[in-house]
Amino acid sequence: MKKFTVFAIETSCDETSTCVAENGNKILSLVTSSQIKIHSNFNGVVPELASRAHIQNINSVAQKTLNSAKIDFLSFKKKIDAIAFTNGPGLAGALLVGNMFAKSLSAIYQTHLIPINHLEGHMFSAGIENKNVSFPFLSLIISGGHTELIIVNDFGDYRALGATRDDAVGEAFDKAAKMLGFPYPGGPVIDKMSENGSADNVKFTRPYLKNTWDFSFSGIKTALLNYLKNNPVKNEKHLRDICAGFSQAIADTLIFKTFLAAKTFNLKKIVLGGGVSCNSLVRKMFLRQGKEENIKVFIPSTVYCSDNAAMIAYAAYLKYKKFGLTYSKEELKSEASLSIKSNC
Ligand code: KG4
Ligand code: ZN
Repeated sequence: MKKFTVFAIETSCDETSTCVAENGNKILSLVTSSQIKIHSNFNGVVPELASRAHIQNINSVAQKTLNSAKIDFLSFKKKIDAIAFTNGPGLAGALLVGNMFAKSLSAIYQTHLIPINHLEGHMFSAGIENKNVSFPFLSLIISGGHTELIIVNDFGDYRALGATRDDAVGEAFDKAAKMLGFPYPGGPVIDKMSENGSADNVKFTRPYLKNTWDFSFSGIKTALLNYLKNNPVKNEKHLRDICAGFSQAIADTLIFKTFLAAKTFNLKKIVLGGGVSCNSLVRKMFLRQGKEENIKVFIPSTVYCSDNAAMIAYAAYLKYKKFGLTYSKEELKSEASLSIKSNC
């Protein structure tokens, strides 16, 4: 079969990322430029600054990616079969930069465009490195903007079971980190601090919502705030225990609901995606629980968990195989609040 090569662009939030991939999972080059330094001064992503940084960075990120895949101005049309870009959800201005960059390249090279939902990027990213991620599976997307539990029957064939009713799980980590005085994004710092901390010393209630597949994380955040009011941080050991207790409460909540859903719907595979799947406790606990319950758990390497264009290239390949190369003007628009629609 002729190989199918995609140039993919991801600009939904604060990472400018482009990738060249052959047949979805052969990643020829991937370059990601993070804007963390800009946003950490403000304790969170500032949408206007994110758009400006994407505009500033996208050309050089794309150039580096193409150079390292040995593609130049003359060979682009011959070597690239489609240009994929994230069309939502995300920050409106940031999405538009990627959208316009993709459309400009497509106009110059007369190349097909494939619009990709960012959540589909996270949902399938574990498949880049593991061909055993076959359908059906239960997807848990845990990122800074989303917490979604979805039954995936095929590409484009989904049953959205539940989502967060308030804070996304990454958002809860980042807000907790802010309370503890850590810089943005605080999720990775809490993860690191939890090492050598004891979750048994600082316990938070687990927000298991009953009779729903939805999640809620704002309660844990408030519990932490109240705890800190009554128990100011004494020393580093205490701080590590608080981080460990917080991480444990989040991991337990995710595990409980996800495995219950897998058993209820008789799904034998759980697939994680999104930045919070970098969390070491989440990774360890999901893999351990999977072994105990005889459910296969797939977690991408950390480079494919956080926002990156390789996951967009991979999803674009799956979309091309299922739906071909022609998309309506409507689908090629960017939509900040794009969601995953259930069709069953
Ligand atoms: O998927 P992602 O890169 O961007 C979104 O689509 O939102 O996820 C970013 C989120 C941030 O909230 C960040 O704090 C969190 O993922 N995160 C982590 C870890 N690494 C990234 N949270 C907990 N532990 C980590 N190791
Ligand atoms: Zn993301």
